[in-house]
Amino acid sequence: MKKVLPVFSLTAVLAVVLIALTSCGKTAENKLEIFTWWTAGGEADGLQAMVQVFSNENPGIEFVNAAVAGGAGQNAKAVLATRMQGGNPPDSFQVHAGHELIDSWVVAGKMEPIDFIFTNQMDKFPKGVLDIISYKGHIFSVPVDIHRANVMWYNKKVFAENKLKVPATWDEFFAVADKLKAKGIAPLAIGDNGIWASTMVFETVLIAKLGPDGYRGLWTGQTAWDSDGVKDAIKTFVKVLGYINDNHNALSWDQAAQLVADGKCAMTIMGDWAEGYFTSKGLKPNVDYGWAIAPGNKGSYEMLSDSFGLPIGAAHRANAIKWLQLCASKEGQEAFNPKKGSISSRNDCNRSLFDIYLQSAMDDFNKDNILPSLAHGAAASESWLTMCNDVMTLLVTDKDVEKADAGFVDAAKKSLKM
Ligand code: GAL
Repeated sequence: MKKVLPVFSLTAVLAVVLIALTSCGKTAENKLEIFTWWTAGGEADGLQAMVQVFSNENPGIEFVNAAVAGGAGQNAKAVLATRMQGGNPPDSFQVHAGHELIDSWVVAGKMEPIDFIFTNQMDKFPKGVLDIISYKGHIFSVPVDIHRANVMWYNKKVFAENKLKVPATWDEFFAVADKLKAKGIAPLAIGDNGIWASTMVFETVLIAKLGPDGYRGLWTGQTAWDSDGVKDAIKTFVKVLGYINDNHNALSWDQAAQLVADGKCAMTIMGDWAEGYFTSKGLKPNVDYGWAIAPGNKGSYEMLSDSFGLPIGAAHRANAIKWLQLCASKEGQEAFNPKKGSISSRNDCNRSLFDIYLQSAMDDFNKDNILPSLAHGAAASESWLTMCNDVMTLLVTDKDVEKADAGFVDAAKKSLKM
């Protein structure tokens, strides 16, 4: 007995090793690892819907969801950077169209051009979006959606019960906010455990105070960061901070949205992934929640786009290309966007699949001034955004307008190399 056992064990060990090796080899060839930060309600559902289409079409490929939680990539971006630097890229990853894609990854020589994905379908994508995902005549990512950042979501019941009119300007906002405050309802929900959520609110104030051209000029050096308009925007933003939930820095964006859903706060300013969140919770647009363009932002569509690219050295390159083809397709975008709370980047998706809010967003996208979002990689480089976020972190605590303005001026100087 004593002699038999080791032989037995050796055979067993060999068998296990053999099985492990075979399955390793198999999965290594048949995996697709996709990296995003889509883990909250709505965004995770959109991803899942597209994965479902992918898996139906490619039953042999194992989908590996490498999502890192935290809105706007507040944790994911650092994880991605480490992986990219270590030569261990995911097969494809979520990246914002514009500066985030180009400055962080394309110029650094980390991405493959993917013009071939767009063959015979260039006309299906907006030129403005194609422009910001291109570098030296080549396209480097597939825009799977178009989001609007400057939206104010509100609880319909709270507004009806208190007989309030939805504010269209910041002055109206403060008037409504005072009434809500008097009733013990926090007017504006913010969940800035990732500071980007406050940066987003500030962006909408900048748009309101500077107008579309003035706002655009901030990113080109045309608009001075120490101008009266910017100072007014910072002052107004600080005033807004007097009307937000006390626990804002402990909450995420979706927890803040939930405060509105529950009627504990009346409004939140957040990108339209919040609408994906609301619908994922079974809430109905125009019944449970309403929306308006952020105060003073009418006519401006502050835009960002999530896209996917092909990193050099992707372990499952052929599978990644299949994913990118799906992201670019009508079928993929129709599965993804209605759940995500975004409109398609393609112009031929079936309108009736989208709810009443998203249909209004489609109409606005075609007629409004399209402005780039800072917090979501479209307006400025990652390093400029980081500097602005650092200024915001101090501002929400010390509320020092002059100091914040000096910080913004300095960030612009460094970034525009003035
Ligand atoms: C944005 C991203 C959106 C949404 C949001 C919250 O940066 O573009 O798709 O996921 O973060 O996580």
